[in-house]
Amino acid sequence: MQALLSAALKARENAFAPYSNFKVGAALEDETGLVHTGCNVENATYGLTVCAERVAVLKAISEGVRRFRRIVVAADSPSFTPPCGACRQILWEFCGDIEIVLVNLKGRTKSFQLSELFPSPFDDSFLR
Ligand code: THU
Repeated sequence: MQALLSAALKARENAFAPYSNFKVGAALEDETGLVHTGCNVENATYGLTVCAERVAVLKAISEGVRRFRRIVVAADSPSFTPPCGACRQILWEFCGDIEIVLVNLKGRTKSFQLSELFPSPFDDSFLR
């Protein structure tokens, strides 16, 4: 777990966040123990900004990885920074009910299952 926390905090340093100045890092562990990192990448249009969690998930998916164990999200806030709604939907699609560990710069952590943060999701079960 310590390595995953460190990976998220390190990924946060790569954030491209000149508009919000709010840097976020993510570290997604796959079923083999490999870690896929991401940071938020903002855009001058604002709306095209991509969150750290989605960058991590999409990087892993694009590498052919399909099964995940947990994700750590790192941000500089006294209270913890949970994934936004769009990221919850993407995490549900690709990771299912994984553990989400939030960490701040003081190293304090708080854990959730995605189903706690994202109850009653719309997913492929409605399309069968
Ligand atoms: N952000 C993330 O990357 N992940 C979150 O969980 C919440 C928000 C980013 C998006 C934007 O670049 C900045 O934080 C402020 O909203």
